[in-house]
Formats: sequence, structure tokens, C-alpha cells
Amino acid sequence: MSTVTPSFPSIRMRRNRRTPWLRRLVQETKLTPSDFIWPVFVVDGEGQKTPVSAMPGVFRYSTDMLIEAVKDAKDLGIPMVAIFPFIDPALKTPDGAEAWNSDNLVCRAVRAIKDNVHYIGVMCDVALDPFNSDGHDGIVQDGIILNDESVECLVKQSINQAEAGCDVIAPSDMMDGRVAAIRAGLDGAGHQDVAIMSYAAKYSSGFYDPFRDAIGSGAMLKGDKKTYQMSPANSDEALREVALDISEGADMVMVKPGLPYLDIVRRVKDTFAMPTFVYNVSGEYAMLRSACDNGFLEYNRVMMETMQSFKRAGSDGILTYHAIDAATILND
Ligand code: PBG
Repeated sequence: MSTVTPSFPSIRMRRNRRTPWLRRLVQETKLTPSDFIWPVFVVDGEGQKTPVSAMPGVFRYSTDMLIEAVKDAKDLGIPMVAIFPFIDPALKTPDGAEAWNSDNLVCRAVRAIKDNVHYIGVMCDVALDPFNSDGHDGIVQDGIILNDESVECLVKQSINQAEAGCDVIAPSDMMDGRVAAIRAGLDGAGHQDVAIMSYAAKYSSGFYDPFRDAIGSGAMLKGDKKTYQMSPANSDEALREVALDISEGADMVMVKPGLPYLDIVRRVKDTFAMPTFVYNVSGEYAMLRSACDNGFLEYNRVMMETMQSFKRAGSDGILTYHAIDAATILND
């Protein structure tokens, strides 16, 4: 801080808050539509736009409807969408082999977007939980989530998504060593330019439940994810996770969930100065939305305040189900 420490009455903090133009002038962080990544749910079929319970305003789109939704996102200036599939339960197996089927729902969705919408990025999640009959992000044997065997599957899944045209691979599985293995796998298959955004500090959180319902993995999940996702009690451990993912080749890192972990976002940004993202997850969306739908809070105001908090905490971008609403407000 400065050596000059004047105080009241020569200093009046309210001077800089006096008028709207002055408040605008001294504003430290600014949101733009470029700050958002919009997570979208996809489902088989045609003409489908089915609501997700516990997430009012969020839908699962069939690929034809998805194209229109992604066009809207692009027109609003949103730089990227993230695809999450609701897989037909009949296709789920213990090894999640549908994840590396080149004609699976994710690949069809990516191709549909790439063939029909330009100038918007497509990100794909890497984890077995949408495809796995145990609802886990990796392979389960005798109740144990196997690490190295899971990583092999995640590499196949990543290459499959890259071949379909995915721009950014986003491993959300929290297996050890997966970023290095995926980087090597992508490079070996000629996908040097496909980027990796790792879910580097992903916590074992109660705020994912509406998402698990949206992709249909919640009812399948046996046990919990505490042997691979982080304990909400830990902060130093997040820095080790992020350091490892960077050393393994991550181009961008993510902290997840968002609001209860803003301290982690700040530490990660300050420590590594990496492109840092935050995932404002399904349970956070449900919480805010239901308070607003009950008339307890004013949606536009608290939603934008929430978005601002992520930017202020140091994130360069925000994965959020509010992306369309936020970008619409910013464009007006
Ligand atoms: C799956 C995955 C999850 C989310 C993104 N990818 C859920 C989980 O780990 O169980 C959560 C997203 C959200 O809650 O919005 N690997």
C-alpha cells in the first residue's frame, strides 16, 4: 500500500461512487459475453427439448435442436459450449465402452455443431460417468475405482472426441496422471492443436446432484466419489493438483464448484497465473433459481452479482447454466 495514508475527512470514499459514469470509470472487473462457457445437455431423438428437473430453464436438446441453441449462443458472443450427454441406459456397460464409439451421442452432437455453426468452440467432458453402469468416472472393480485402467479408457474417449471435431478436451474424472496420458494420446493421433482444460481442483461436492439427474447417472451411482474428487476441507491440496495438471500439459485449469470455492480460484490464479476457469455447477444454479422463482431474490441482479464474483476472484471464464441469460443482459 502507499506510504501516504490520508484519512477522513480529506478522503471520502463516496466521491468515486457519486454518479453512474464515475462508478463505471473506477470499476475493477468487467463481464463480457466472452467470459462464458455454456454447458448444454444432449439427448437422442429429434425435436427434443426436455426440461431438467431441479434446473428450471435448463433443457436436454436433441442434436437438431442443439444446433439452434448453439447458434443463439454464438450470436450472443459466447465463445464456447460444453457438451454433456444423457446416454440411453441400454448402452451403459461396466467399462463405459460407448464413450469411445465414434458414432456415440457426443460425437454426433459435436459433428452437428461443427457442420452447422461456425466461430464457436466445442468442449467435451472426459469421464466415464455418463456411459458407465456404475455412474462412476472410472472403471469400478470390487467397489474400487481403478486408476490406470480408467486412464486408458479416458485416452480412448478423448481421441474419439477429438476425431469428431472437439476443440477442447476437458477431463473431469480426477484420475491421477490422466492429463499427461491424454496429451500423449492426442498428439500420437495427430491432434496436437486440441487443447486440454483440466478440471484440476474438483471437489467431492453435494452441489452436483441436479447434473447427475440431467445426464441420468445419479440413480446409477453406487457409493460416492470421495476416493478421487477432493475433500471440501482442503486448499493446499488444490494447488498440488493444479501444479500436476500444468506439468502434465494442461492448457487451462478449472476449479469446481464455484461459489463455495472462490478462495481456491483466487489462490490458483495468484499462484500459477494460468488461464483459470470456474464451474458454477448445477446445484448452485438450482439454489439461485429456486430462491428467485419463489420471489425471495431478484434473478437478474443476484445472477449477475454471482458472475461478477467469479471474475473478481480471479477467473478468466465461467462455465455456467446462466450463460445465455448473462450474455443477453450484457448485450442489452
Ligand atoms: C462428471 C461431471 C460432473 C459434473 C461435470 N462433469 C458431476 C460429477 O462429478 O459427479 C458436474 C457439473 C454440475 O453439477 O453442473 N464427471
